[in-house]
Amino acid sequence: MTAAETGFDLTLTEEQELAQRAARDFATEKVLPRAAEIDDQGKIPPELLREMGALGFMGPYVPERYGGSGLDALSYALIVEEINRACASTGVVLCSHVSLAVDPILHHGSDAQKEKYLPKLARGEWIGCFALSEPASGSDAAAMRTSARRDGDSWILNGTKNFITNGALSNVAIVFAQTNPAQKRKGIAAFIVEKGTPGFTVGKLEKKLGIRGSDTAQLIFQDARVPAASLLGETNEGYKIALSTLDGGRISIAAQAVGIARACLEDSLAYAKQREAFGKKVADFQAIQWMLADMATEIDAARLLTWRAAALKDAGEDYILAAAEAKLFASDVAVKASRDCVQIFGGYGYLKDFPAERHYRDAKITEIYEGTSEIMKLVIAEEILKE
Ligand code: CAA
Repeated sequence: MTAAETGFDLTLTEEQELAQRAARDFATEKVLPRAAEIDDQGKIPPELLREMGALGFMGPYVPERYGGSGLDALSYALIVEEINRACASTGVVLCSHVSLAVDPILHHGSDAQKEKYLPKLARGEWIGCFALSEPASGSDAAAMRTSARRDGDSWILNGTKNFITNGALSNVAIVFAQTNPAQKRKGIAAFIVEKGTPGFTVGKLEKKLGIRGSDTAQLIFQDARVPAASLLGETNEGYKIALSTLDGGRISIAAQAVGIARACLEDSLAYAKQREAFGKKVADFQAIQWMLADMATEIDAARLLTWRAAALKDAGEDYILAAAEAKLFASDVAVKASRDCVQIFGGYGYLKDFPAERHYRDAKITEIYEGTSEIMKLVIAEEILKE
């Protein structure tokens, strides 16, 4: 029975294959050779981001009329996997920019906001970030304290945002703030805030375990005045904009996790085939083979969950459950694969001279950002219980 007859077809379209190949070639030639340096120096060479913009990766599913590549969410997942296979720091800059800044403007922006921001963001001339978390509110996003007060034709923002990926690098931030604390979730609004707005500054840059090439910053708002036109969606819609944006973001983090896990598998395979112990290749030992077999199987399963979530998004169907399942599973796969990768490399796995320890440090964050694994289980349980 053919795929077409069953209606179950995992064949990529020509366009998707082209996107995957372009991302794989770029990642292999330009990103992978610099991944260790990016991690070590805590900085991504600006020309890499410019090249990703020129290749259309920074606005993959933005329509061409807004300067994007006009691809679909699955193509984006393919691109994310390839870039993250090479370097998770570069990968998260891409994920946060596309899923968390470009996406909400595309889906909730006015025509004027789309015209103003999407072309620059899609071409990578501007970088975006998503400012939701605060020092005292992470998983419980609705408990935010940052406030927005209407003053004539402006809004005045006050508060501090924490753990903001791309916070220092970005030209524009999607900022969530409470306009009416009595209304709790329904009093939250989203704003597009440009770097350079008086009263908006970048605070502390965090030192991190992994993804060290991407910046994680505090954003500070002290009587930051933004025009009324910077409101994204309606005043009471901010919380839903945040949660629906994160649904898409979770697909990209699942794809990131698949990319990191694939790096672990490919690096482990290469090492196990050349390293010898007890007179034979390490790959000839069943203990190593079982680790490799588990990695390969789990990566395929994680990728299928990720593709399903992206395909549902492309089909305009509800993908809250699929995105949460993909992120929960893929992040667990990445963490396990990175642990086994270090183990297969043995003592060398613990050294900076080899990529295993970087994968080990990079993988962990996929279980935390854009919704922890515990929050993913909560979302999944809520979805399956309501069915
Ligand atoms: N999309 C749109 N609307 C949604 C939604 C979704 N996925 N999920 C829920 N909603 C709506 C509900 O329909 C409900 O609307 P009504 O009030 O009109 O009925 C409303 O939102 C509240 O829904 P819940 O009561 O189910 O939600 P909750 O407030 O109890 O919270 C939560 C649910 C799952 C805990 C949620 O707050 C959440 O996902 N928290 C995690 C936040 C997170 O992921 N933070 C990561 C920070 S970003 C980051 O990491 C950035 C970075 O830089 C990489």
